[in-house]
Parts: sequence; C-alpha cells; structure tokens
Amino acid sequence: MTTTQPVLHISSLTKHYGGVKALTDANFRLMPGEHAAIVGDNGAGKSTFVRLITGVEQPNSGDICLNNQKVSFHSPLDAREQGIETVYQTLALAEDLDVPANIFLGREITRLNLGPLSILNHKAMREKSTEMLSTTGVKIQDMSESLRGMSGGQRQCVAIARAAGFAKKLIILDEPTAALGVAETARVELIIKGLKQQGIPLIIISHNLRQVFDLVDRIWVFRQGRIICNRLTRQTNPEEIVGLITGAIDPANLSPEETKEEALTC
Ligand SMILES: Nc1ncnc2c1ncn2[C@@H]1O[C@H](COP(=O)(O)OP(=O)(O)O)[C@@H](O)[C@H]1O
Ligand SMILES: [Mg+2]
Repeated sequence: MTTTQPVLHISSLTKHYGGVKALTDANFRLMPGEHAAIVGDNGAGKSTFVRLITGVEQPNSGDICLNNQKVSFHSPLDAREQGIETVYQTLALAEDLDVPANIFLGREITRLNLGPLSILNHKAMREKSTEMLSTTGVKIQDMSESLRGMSGGQRQCVAIARAAGFAKKLIILDEPTAALGVAETARVELIIKGLKQQGIPLIIISHNLRQVFDLVDRIWVFRQGRIICNRLTRQTNPEEIVGLITGAIDPANLSPEETKEEALTC
C-alpha cells in the first residue's frame, strides 16, 4: 500500500454534446511529479477531456479532485488560479503583443492598481519574462517585438514558458509540437524534460509515439470517447499502444492491475 495521493484524480467524467458522446466515464489519475501522455485517434475525446479539467467546459457528470480536494472550475482562469496551466491545441497567444505582454496576459503586474486606470509595470514584466524564458532555454532576441515575426517554435516556447512559470500544480500540453519542425520539437521536448527534473506534474497529448516513449512515465489510451487503459511506459511498447489505439488489441487481454483505473471518490 502506498500513501502517496494523486495530484489529480478524475472519476467517471462524462461529456455529451447532444447525441455525441465525446467522453464517457473517464477515470484518470496523475501522481506527484508524474509525466503522463494521452494518446488516441482523432475524435477519441482527448481535447474534450482537457477542456473539462481546465474549466473551458463543464462535465455532465463526474468528479475532479486536485490534491485530494474536489474542484469545479467555472472558467480557464479559475483553473489557472488553482495552479493548472494549459497550452491548448490552438495557441492562445496575442500575435500583435510582445513577449512580456503575452506572458502576463490576464495577470499583468501593476505599479498602481486602480482597476481600469491601473498603471502597468512594464519593466517588472520584461525582467520576469526574461527570467522565465531563460529557465526554459528559449532565446528571444528582442523582447519588444510582437509575436507576428516569430517562428511557430518560438511562439510555442513562449506559451510553454508561460505555463511553466505560473503552474503550481500541473501543466497540460495539447499537441505542443504538432505544428513544429524537428529542431523546434527538440527544443520543446527539452523544456518538458526540464519540467520533469523540477518535479512539475505534466499531461501531454501527442500523436508522436517516439516523443511519448521518450518523455513520459505512463500512457493513457483514449478510444471512441473512453479511456480504455493505461500502461507504464517501461512495461509497454509502441506496437502495443498502436494496437490499443486502433482496437486491434483488446485491453481486457492485458494484465488487469496495469490497465484499469478504479473509480474512486476523494
Ligand atoms: N463542441 C462540440 N460540439 C459537438 N461535438 C463535439 C464538440 N467538441 C468535440 N466534439 C466531438 O466529440 C468527439 C471528441 O472530440 P475531441 O475531444 O476533440 O477529440 P480528440 O481531441 O481526441 O481528437 C468528436 O466526435 C468531436 O466531433
Ligand atoms: Mg484534440
């Protein structure tokens, strides 16, 4: 028996859009410091799952527990305030703003806080942004330049640096390298490995099995709106994961203690 509690524990999470069963009865957990991957075909329910646990949408039913406390996020801001940072599949960055403005979007540092008349502390935001980017190893020549002129990789690194800088409990990345080239992907993977060393729990959605096997401790397989099983990375292989994703392998034929997450309440 281990006494370690999961950072995140999800029970019976369900979301239906009319007749579309995007996610049914999903059970999931993430342990302290653990990096987990979510894999599955298009339409398997991966992004829905992320939207539910980050407050973008509300589930029809099910429980989300963060550090053993039942939570219910009413907005992404709500989730962020409780320490969950997310980089969504569609990047939520403002092209016309510079790096510090993007990093502090929605949580600007002020010199004088008078609501709409607040005075922003640009110097503090610039310095803090430089610090946050340097911990991720990202180099931006000119911090006052807008994101418009930057490559996809640089933008993604800004988004991940922002998430890493603010995340207190958990980072979620939805397909962070899907649009990136080889060198840019390598850079993002280095950032993720750095987060592992820092002990920050992370969930990554990825179609890239090489990347998944390189980065995470545990793999969760989604299929047709259900989480069908989870496997410790060191106890599985890419062929088995592909078989589970496509349905060629029935999870019922795998060792049961490895595959099923019991529905628990916190
Ligand atoms: N807002 C929505 N309205 C209706 N159907 C949706 C909505 N979002 C997702 N779906 C459907 O739910 C299923 C799961 O989608 P999604 O979570 O985006 O899958 P994935 O990220 O694994 O590709 C798909 O059939 C998709 O068409
Ligand atoms: Mg998706």
